[in-house]
Amino acid sequence: MEVTEPEHIVLVKATEICKNCKNIVIGKGNENADILFVGEAPGRNEDEQGLPFVGAAGKNLDKLLANVGLSLDDVYIANILKCRPPENRDPLPEEIRAHTPWLVKQIEEINPKVICSLGNYATKFFLANGEVDLMEKQEGITKVHGKVRMINFKDKQIKLIPLFHPAAIIYNQKLLPLWEADLEIVKREIKIKQKTLF
Ligand code: URA
Repeated sequence: MEVTEPEHIVLVKATEICKNCKNIVIGKGNENADILFVGEAPGRNEDEQGLPFVGAAGKNLDKLLANVGLSLDDVYIANILKCRPPENRDPLPEEIRAHTPWLVKQIEEINPKVICSLGNYATKFFLANGEVDLMEKQEGITKVHGKVRMINFKDKQIKLIPLFHPAAIIYNQKLLPLWEADLEIVKREIKIKQKTLF
């Protein structure tokens, strides 16, 4: 009997970046975690290994998490795009449209207490309620990092806490104390309530 692939996978596979990548990078970490981190897109190392955040930004993320007493057991990590864009260029609107139904599925399955968007792309995607055309109009990460918001995402209430992207912290160490303060907010929020997202 022929097994048909789910729509969210078909959509990703139909994109040019998927045809040209080595691996579809789905996610890593604890699928029952209270915290879901969402980055932008796989880079070269992630594409090679089929796992998110394993290159320089990933090593920094591991360190940043350890500094605040967290590990991969406490979080799940995914990206807006599931495949590496050539030369790590910015995601295109049509790629975000095609790849994020898979992310929505992951949010439903993991049902985290808090979603932490890492950097501008992921943050603007959630602030725009997943409406790609509205992403440009959203406030940038410098303004919104560490602010807890309940947002109406795809008709569900989700608790969003935007964070600086770990790659940005490598280049600008002044962001480190801000990141650590933001992570304390994340830890406080996951202690507050039962899971309420989906
Ligand atoms: N940067 C991201 O946003 N995601 C990754 O998986 C790696 C680097």
